[in-house]
Amino acid sequence: MRTLGPDEEDDLTAEPALPAPSTPRGGVAGSIPTCTVPPFAAGPRRAFLAAAVRSPGQIGAVAPSSPRLADLLASVVPTHGAPIVVELGPGTGSVSAAIAERLPAGARHLAVELDPRLAAYLRRTRPDMEVVVGDAEHLTGLLAARSVPAVDAVVSGLPWSLFGGATQRAILDQVAAAIGPTGAFATFAYTHTAPMTTARRFRRMLSEVFDEVVVSRTIWRNLPPAYAYVCRRPRSEGRYQSVQRDTGR
Ligand SMILES: C[S@@+](CC[C@H](N)C(=O)[O-])C[C@H]1O[C@@H](n2cnc3c(N)ncnc32)[C@H](O)[C@@H]1O
Repeated sequence: MRTLGPDEEDDLTAEPALPAPSTPRGGVAGSIPTCTVPPFAAGPRRAFLAAAVRSPGQIGAVAPSSPRLADLLASVVPTHGAPIVVELGPGTGSVSAAIAERLPAGARHLAVELDPRLAAYLRRTRPDMEVVVGDAEHLTGLLAARSVPAVDAVVSGLPWSLFGGATQRAILDQVAAAIGPTGAFATFAYTHTAPMTTARRFRRMLSEVFDEVVVSRTIWRNLPPAYAYVCRRPRSEGRYQSVQRDTGR
């Protein structure tokens, strides 16, 4: 594990692992990457496929994140106190389950999902979460409207490779404003996309926005294999403050 410089473009797969979650959930067998689904079986898989067919330009994945990847992403979620956690692009809730497993009583778990049908599905299946139909690009406004001044962690399932550079930057600035100097941000990318220009640009952008960017080892038990970024300490004080002013914080 280490921090990336803004211009580094080396092999991600050589990175050592982030700390392993203490209680990985089941559902993955052998060394073949498989698509696993939460315990409520065919429901989420059907809902995910339907969303992927309905709006392929918004989903950007062939399967929900595996429990292994979900646990890794959720590792930024505090397990004590009364944290406020935001999930971006929860889809059918595979990462939501890992977040919920860590959250202590009294925590808040907000989930911002652009697809209203997926949001309706999540409201049915995950009543523990506050599901918000909205665009991650408007995160600080969505939080301000719910009287949430700052959050402890943001966990993203967003399909970054489908976004243009301006959208990526706008969302990252919103995340930076939401977590402030003390929060954490976790997101993921697919290993096969790492050499692509857009993925390389996204990595550079992460290092521009955050002082610390930690890259995980490859999670092979995911379809397709993926890795996580964990970011802390937004760099741009000026940009951070201007978003705060916009949202009245
Ligand atoms: C690849 S799926 C990830 C689902 C789930 N988090 C997982 O890892 O299995 C991407 C999700 O992000 C949602 N999404 C895409 N663009 C979004 C945006 N701008 N704001 C909020 N959600 C968005 C999609 O509707 C979809 O549910």
